[in-house]
Amino acid sequence: KRGRLSQQPSEVTLIGHFEGEKDLGEAARGVDRALAAQIKELIKSGEFAGKHQQLSLIHARTRAHTKRILMVGLGKRNDCSLEKIRQAMSKAAQQVRDLGVGSFCTPLIARGLRGISPAEMAQAMVEGIILGLYQFNVYKTEPRDSTRSIQEFTLLEEESRHLKEIQKGIHRGQILAEATNLARDLGNYPSNYVTPTRLAEMAQGMAGELGLECEVLEKPQMEALGMGAFLGVARGSQEPPKFIILKYQGKNGATRPIALVGKTITFDSGGISIKPSEKMEQMKYDMMGGATVMCAIKSVAQLRLPVNVVGFLPATENMPSGTAIKPGDVVKTLSGKTVEVINTDAEGRLILADALTYAIRYRPTVIVDVATLTGACTVALGHQAIGLLGNHRGLLDAVKRASQAAGERVWELPLWEEYYDQIKSDIADIKNVGGRGAGTITAAAFLSKFVGDYPWAHLDIASTAWADEGRPYTPRGVTGIGVRLLVRFLMDSKTHPLFKPLPVLKPDPLLSRSRNKGHG
Ligand code: BES
Ligand code: MN
Ligand code: ZN
Repeated sequence: KRGRLSQQPSEVTLIGHFEGEKDLGEAARGVDRALAAQIKELIKSGEFAGKHQQLSLIHARTRAHTKRILMVGLGKRNDCSLEKIRQAMSKAAQQVRDLGVGSFCTPLIARGLRGISPAEMAQAMVEGIILGLYQFNVYKTEPRDSTRSIQEFTLLEEESRHLKEIQKGIHRGQILAEATNLARDLGNYPSNYVTPTRLAEMAQGMAGELGLECEVLEKPQMEALGMGAFLGVARGSQEPPKFIILKYQGKNGATRPIALVGKTITFDSGGISIKPSEKMEQMKYDMMGGATVMCAIKSVAQLRLPVNVVGFLPATENMPSGTAIKPGDVVKTLSGKTVEVINTDAEGRLILADALTYAIRYRPTVIVDVATLTGACTVALGHQAIGLLGNHRGLLDAVKRASQAAGERVWELPLWEEYYDQIKSDIADIKNVGGRGAGTITAAAFLSKFVGDYPWAHLDIASTAWADEGRPYTPRGVTGIGVRLLVRFLMDSKTHPLFKPLPVLKPDPLLSRSRNKGHG
């Protein structure tokens, strides 16, 4: 809101400060006057140098508008970036919470940093705060200290000039961070809560709230369509599979949509090729591709972006049982291609094969899939970057630009022809594993067989969707990575020549055959 920081009554006032600088920003100068130069004094003492994420608390000695000042270091001005701002704000907000204080005030920090608009700065601040305060404690039944949570914070801006812009940035930041936190929740909830059925219900609920279209294909419909690969994976589970389709129209119906496909395995035991028990409990997050897509579409709808998007979530468990698919079995995919299932633990590519085939029936301009697809992605990139692969230069570059803007790293891996030799089958068209080397690449090579000539990008989030150790604004556990990247990609899509509408083709007759609506 509009107002003067040095007159705003507050429990805590946040002041950002660059390393090695003596001068305070304008808002901070006013506050310092009200505090009889306590801030200057602190900086002079050398106790607070402004190192990135450094924190220092000042209790006001005199009766001032604010009880405390929390100084937060922004690092060197020249090294500062939106990512550094998110990190610093997250640390500061966590500190306020730890103090047991329920609210704080802040000016727009790092004002006038080159190349960064007030709106972007406000967005990054809000993202850092809301993402940094995330906690998952719905299963903690012991009474918690309710004072340790932040109810509100206020960003104060003196000038009316940038007010609108800043408010827009705050709005975006809040929507994106809350959608990311929702994705985190979906992954952190165990698989006995987040079943395919519950996800379908949630998607329908979301659709009702936001005016999206939601269609859920049930098993008989998928059988009629011929989704043999998806149903092959679902065979071992008692939980009914659901194929969730979530559609947002921000433009008229004739405009081709962007298709987002998310791997949605609500629990991956490996099936008959069962996984070792160590860390198997983490396989509840094997649905994060789908959760990412769902939450990105939620944000896009809340932001009313002028794009058409359709999300496809093939949702099932991967379980061993007497009815489960077995190594050596052959399945017929929706595309007609046959797949020899060498390893039932390579189930993600099986369900995605049918989902991608189904997605291209919507004649999208581009397809982006998101999947916790391969453990090999950790071998290749560690936990630092999403694996990026695809068949279209322009699209891959657009994803990279969105990645940079969102602060969610991607790194491209090659899809050279030679890798395709690794997934040749003796008895079927293709097999579902590619041997020892290049596991992330051969998985993507498999997927590429099902996208035809459509521009397609694949994001392997297996190594980044979960963090064993907390990061500045990402606590331990599910990270929610990819939501902000996808939304950014969709925001920018309207300015990208690649996404100019193509001539409208006749609807695919196969598509209209499948258009019987799901329940609810
Ligand atoms: N969901 C896993 C991939 C995974 C592993 C995600 C670790 C997150 C953390 C996937 O379904 C899988 O099991 N992939 C196999 C493929 C292999 C059998 C070719 C893998 O990575 O071991
Ligand atoms: Mn698996
Ligand atoms: Zn899996």
